[in-house]
Amino acid sequence: PPDIPVAAVQAHLTELQRIATANGGNRAHGRPGYRASLDYVKSKLDAAGYQTRIHQFTASGATGYNLIAEWPHGDANNVIMSGGHLDSVSRGPGINDNGSGSAGLLEVALTVSRQNVRPTKRLRFGWWGAEELGLIGSTAYVNSLTSAERGLIKAYVNFDMIGSPNPAYFVYSASGQPSGSQAIEDLLEQGFSAKGVQTELTSVGGRSDHAAFARAGIPVGGTFSGAEGRKTAAQAQKWGGSANVAFDRCYHQACDTTSNINATSLDRHTDVIAHAVYTLAGA
Ligand code: PHE
Ligand code: CA
Ligand code: ZN
Ligand code: ZN
Ligand code: ZN
Repeated sequence: PPDIPVAAVQAHLTELQRIATANGGNRAHGRPGYRASLDYVKSKLDAAGYQTRIHQFTASGATGYNLIAEWPHGDANNVIMSGGHLDSVSRGPGINDNGSGSAGLLEVALTVSRQNVRPTKRLRFGWWGAEELGLIGSTAYVNSLTSAERGLIKAYVNFDMIGSPNPAYFVYSASGQPSGSQAIEDLLEQGFSAKGVQTELTSVGGRSDHAAFARAGIPVGGTFSGAEGRKTAAQAQKWGGSANVAFDRCYHQACDTTSNINATSLDRHTDVIAHAVYTLAGA
């Protein structure tokens, strides 16, 4: 799998910040900054040769949008899906939550195109709307699939917050949630360990967009650099950063800007996205 240059991921975050700033300071569901964020990601993927589709839904009286992108190569009956939410809260621009996962996924998808990868399996990416209103977009997407279509999705890997300023290197625990996949957990751990990064397992339960896939019986996993929880002394020993301080002090705040990103965390988690996506797809 490729080593993704973090500068390319940061360039996407700069664009998402610009979009928020130009649209009242956020990229929230039902606000113009959300649709502009989606159009930014979609235009990059269209130019790279992805088949993209906007999936519409309604939440809190406003139209919501998911972006689905498929790399049109490999076995369409064996779909490897990864995703993250593209909406922010209305209080701020949501650059770590979840511009970071969105940008990392986008750059991995663009790298697949640049390298002209011909994987054995079919790669599909999702950027979800209205996660912050209660996982609405990802749930609407899973509900829109027939049971046959759900059965074709062999894995779903979620990335929600990967550039936290006082970062953790968490992998979703397979035993900590329904439909947690031991194989995905192991693969993500192996991706970090190949980079010399120690990990911890975390029980994310139903706190992000993997939950709808898990309810449908699809094997799930993911990585996470931490939100409002505080880093322990042992974690600060292992990962650096500040003990007794939140992983992300700007979680859901106006200060979740491009200044709220740890570049090393963004880089490592993005490289692990690439490791998982390429390996699961047989690339
Ligand atoms: N889903 C949470 C949010 O967007 C953040 C989160 C991600 C929490 C992953 C736990 C695990 O606010
Ligand atoms: Ca890298
Ligand atoms: Zn959030
Ligand atoms: Zn989030
Ligand atoms: Zn493990």
